[in-house]
Amino acid sequence: MQIRLDKFLADAGIGTRSEVKSIIKRKAVTINGVHAARPETKLNPDTDEVAVNGRIVALRGHVTYLLHKPAGYVSAVKDNRFPTVMELIPQGRDLFPVGRLDRDTEGLLLITNDGMMAHRMLSPRSHVDKTYLVLLDYPAEDAYIALFSDGVDIGDDTPTLPAELVICEADHPAFQYLPEEYRDGLCAGQMVLLTIQEGRYHQVKRMFHAVNREVAYLKRLSFGPYVLPLSLKKGDVILCAPEKPSDAVQ
Ligand code: URA
Repeated sequence: MQIRLDKFLADAGIGTRSEVKSIIKRKAVTINGVHAARPETKLNPDTDEVAVNGRIVALRGHVTYLLHKPAGYVSAVKDNRFPTVMELIPQGRDLFPVGRLDRDTEGLLLITNDGMMAHRMLSPRSHVDKTYLVLLDYPAEDAYIALFSDGVDIGDDTPTLPAELVICEADHPAFQYLPEEYRDGLCAGQMVLLTIQEGRYHQVKRMFHAVNREVAYLKRLSFGPYVLPLSLKKGDVILCAPEKPSDAVQ
């Protein structure tokens, strides 16, 4: 199906029909890398790549991106003080982050315009697993495995749901996700993987705080069926097929 460039941009939420016409006239728009100067230019939204000021415009319909969030960005659509994760993804209508990672947390963050998908992933009833790589200030003790599996009191009305803690040996594959700067001088037991089924505020940090440990570095490696590809650099993004687990799932 072919549609006009100005309609495509307006449907994608870039602006009104007259606003996008002036954006096109300013030569800010490319189709497959070639400047498009006429609003009536026809394109195929399924196969052509449209960009405004170099940023790819999201396809129409539901779209989900998997972002490797760097530290320093807030998981919000707008923020007055800090850069937001939206600055790292292609422009598109109604996109929002699926849940939050703290500003200093890195790792897998989904950004979508699919409200139903987000609801399914975030609903407390869904118990969607989230796995975090955690670097602790001091080594974890074996006793934490049972404590976290039973649920810990982190100061909320109810203890946390059962969570799985893995204390990583030095040859654990997850070490590949740990940035170089944290690898030197690590003690056995300082790096762990924690899988939780909830998404309470600062949950991972509060769970370790409850056992007298502080989190020195935190990275989300997976969220339900979505897995952070080892090859995806910080700040980079991949497009996931709507309604399907990402290609990154191993
Ligand atoms: N738990 C935290 O403490 N912080 C995050 O960003 C995510 C989970």
